[in-house]
Amino acid sequence: MKPKIYVTRQVPKAGLSMLREACKIEMWEEELPVPRDILLKKMHEMEGLCSLITERVDDELLDAAPRLKVVSNMAVGYDNVDVAACTARGIPVGNTPGVLTDATADLTFSLLMAAARRIPEAVDYVRDGKWHTWDPLGLLGAEVWGATLGIVGLGRIGQAVARRGRGFDMHILYSDTIRRSELEAELGVEYVGFEQLLSRSDFVSLHCPLLPETRHLMNEETLKKMKTTAILINAARGPVVDTDALVDALRQGWIAAAALDVTNPEPLPAQHSLVDLPNCIVVPHIGSATVVARSRMSVRAAENLLAGLRGQKLPYCVNPQVYE
Ligand code: DGY
Repeated sequence: MKPKIYVTRQVPKAGLSMLREACKIEMWEEELPVPRDILLKKMHEMEGLCSLITERVDDELLDAAPRLKVVSNMAVGYDNVDVAACTARGIPVGNTPGVLTDATADLTFSLLMAAARRIPEAVDYVRDGKWHTWDPLGLLGAEVWGATLGIVGLGRIGQAVARRGRGFDMHILYSDTIRRSELEAELGVEYVGFEQLLSRSDFVSLHCPLLPETRHLMNEETLKKMKTTAILINAARGPVVDTDALVDALRQGWIAAAALDVTNPEPLPAQHSLVDLPNCIVVPHIGSATVVARSRMSVRAAENLLAGLRGQKLPYCVNPQVYE
């Protein structure tokens, strides 16, 4: 008998076919996430769960899943999973680090460049029929080459962004909970305190996980510490930024612009002030959205899930304490 698993959305073929071979799959095939009540009902008979960042894996769900052996989250971030609750039940949780690092760093840099050179505004300018002449004062943006880039969180993605920044001859500052001295020479980065990073950077790029300590890391006080000419980029998690404070910052000129791959709330309603502001770019959480990255994520998620079903150690486990 193949073990039963639930896959909460259609995922790329590469991973899905691995799961199909070994498991009896039920999958939510709609475009929007599986409604909570349906998911809870399904969990009763499932031995494995392949979840996305759109599903809350918490006590309620775990209580509804008496046979559950493994949670495999198809994402590197896992703030949607109550890891402690899984650990308490001896359930390993897998994530998919590594395979989306470069895709996310590329997107981060695209946002940085687009905000610096006001690309969406320029595209609208042409679309709206406003391009009547070459304008010496029109659509002036910020220089990227040689500017100072502040990276908050020098994990895998932060490091990959630093490498891209070096290619643009940027002076790169970073802050983190621990100093990464071993990386400083290789990446050409300078370790500074968070406040110094804010006050010196032309671009502040967020790459920290969402934790109680990082929720609203960017708030009225910290946004006001940035240069008035600076640009904030968030490709980490929406709640790292206090949305209301950011709206004020962009309206009142505490900072020049923002470019966001992630928002709070998510999805961001089309009528939201952030969408309307000309100095804010919002894209719909597409950091890992390349064909290759998503395919590799699905494979990594399948590897974790299959290992968990077999009682083997997950290759990418966020709560290795379950094996102690
Ligand atoms: C992640 O993996 O955590 C991203 O946010 C989605 O790819």
